[in-house]
Amino acid sequence: MSITDPVCPADLRPATAQIHAGREQSDPYRPVAVPIHQTAAYEFPDYATARRMFALKEPGFTYTRTGNPTVATLERRLAALDGGAAAVATATGQAAVALALLALLQGGNHIVASAKLYGGTVDLLTDTFADFGVTVSFVDPALPEQWAAAATPGTRAFLVESIGNPLSTLPDLSALAAAAHAAGVPLVVDNTLATPVLCRPLDFGADIVVYSATKYLGGHGTTLAGAVVDGGRFDFSAEPRKWPQLAGPKARYGNESLWDRHGHGAYLALLRSKYLHDLGPSLSPAAAAQILQGLETLDLRVERHTDSALRVARHLAAHPAVAAVHHPGIAGNPNESIADRDFPRGTGGVFSFDLALPAGADAWETVGTFIDSLRLVKLVANIGDARSLVAHPAAMTHCRLTPAQRAAAGISETTIRLSIGLEDPADIVADLDRALAALDAAPNVTLGAAAGEPVLSGAPARPGKAA
Ligand SMILES: Cc1ncc(COP(=O)(O)O)c(C=O)c1O
Repeated sequence: MSITDPVCPADLRPATAQIHAGREQSDPYRPVAVPIHQTAAYEFPDYATARRMFALKEPGFTYTRTGNPTVATLERRLAALDGGAAAVATATGQAAVALALLALLQGGNHIVASAKLYGGTVDLLTDTFADFGVTVSFVDPALPEQWAAAATPGTRAFLVESIGNPLSTLPDLSALAAAAHAAGVPLVVDNTLATPVLCRPLDFGADIVVYSATKYLGGHGTTLAGAVVDGGRFDFSAEPRKWPQLAGPKARYGNESLWDRHGHGAYLALLRSKYLHDLGPSLSPAAAAQILQGLETLDLRVERHTDSALRVARHLAAHPAVAAVHHPGIAGNPNESIADRDFPRGTGGVFSFDLALPAGADAWETVGTFIDSLRLVKLVANIGDARSLVAHPAAMTHCRLTPAQRAAAGISETTIRLSIGLEDPADIVADLDRALAALDAAPNVTLGAAAGEPVLSGAPARPGKAA
C-alpha cells in the first residue's frame, strides 16, 4: 500500500500545488526533481513488518503493482489539486474509469451514465461490463430529472464527463450530485478534458473524479496514465447492505470490513488492494515521472489551449464551409449559461464542429478531403497534446457506437473533433482555412456522391453550395 494522506498544506494555491504538493524528501542526496523509483519490489525491514503489511495492517510499499514512491507522489499531487482526500494512479485513463466503477459494483448492478461520453467508456459500459451483467441507462447530461428517473434500487453509480468528449457538453454538476445522492449513490466525474484548472468536480458535490492523465495532465502526448481521486465524503456505511464490498465483513480482509478499518478511505483501499492488485493496470514509475513533469506547467498550458481553442472556434463559426461549432463559448451554444456560471476560466482546448455538406456530397469523402488537406493539425486519436490534433469521431473514437447512440451523443458523420495545441493560433487557423478551401476544389465534394451510393443521413446540409 502507498501512503495516502495528502501532505499539501490546504492553503497552497493551485499553481504552487502543481509543482510542490505531495513531495516528500527522503533521499540523502536531496534531488530537486521527483526521483524515479525504478523498482518492482521493496526490501522489508523484518518478517513481522512484512506480515503486517501483507495483512494491510501497516502502510508501506510491498510491490510496485499496488504502490510505488514516485507514483505515490503523483497520487498525492493529484488529490491536492482536486481537493480530494487521496488518489490511486493507474496505467491508463481507461483503467481509471473501469476501476472506479468496479469498486462500486457487485455484478448485475446498474449505472446511470451520460449519453455524451468518450467512445472507449461507452465500449466499456455496453460491452465489457455487459458481459458481467452490469446494465447501463444512458441519459441526457443536460437533464438531471432524467438521471433521477433512471435510478433503480440496483443503481450503484452516476457517471458523467465534466466537459463531454467530443462536443464540449457541460452538465450541471451540482444538480447531478444532488440527484445521485437522492438515489443513494456516488457521482463519478471524468474530468479529463477540464483538468482541475478549469473544474474541480468535488467542489460541486461530486464524490469521485477520474482522469485520463494521458491528455492534459501529462500534456505532451508521450505517456499513458490515469487516476482516480476520491473526495472521501460518500458514506458507504449509511446503507451497508448496498455496499457489502466496503461496509461488510470480507474474508479477504480477515473478516473485517474495509469501512471499519479505513472509514472514508475504504473506497480507495478496495480499489487499490483488490482491483489494482488483482487486475494489475498499474502505472509505471517512469510514466508517473512524466506526468509529474507535465503537471508542473498545467495551468499555463491549459490557459493557452483554452484561449486558442476559443479563438479558433470563433473563426470557424464565421466560416461558410462550417455548419455548426460545438463550443460553449460560441453564442447560442446550449451550454453557454453553465459555462458562464461554473467554468470561469473557460472550457478547454477540445471542441468539435460540423462540416457543411454540399447537396449530394458524400459525408465521409468530404471529411476525408478536409482532413487529408491539413498540414499542421495532425490526424491523431488523442487529445491534450502540445500539438494540434484532429479526429473524426464517427470513424474513430466513437465508431463502435450504434447510429442511435451516436445521434444521442450529438455526433454526425461530418462532426470533426479538434484538440487545439500550444502553437501560435494564427498558424492553426491558417491550416484549417487551407483545408476548408480544399473542399471547394475537391471533385467528390462539388460533384456529389458516386452514383448509387446513398448520402449518409445526419450530416448537416451546406446551403449555397451547388451539387
Ligand atoms: C474523457 C476520456 N476519458 C477516458 C479516456 C481513456 O483514457 P486513456 O486513453 O488514457 O486510457 C479518454 C481517452 O481518450 C478520454 O478522452
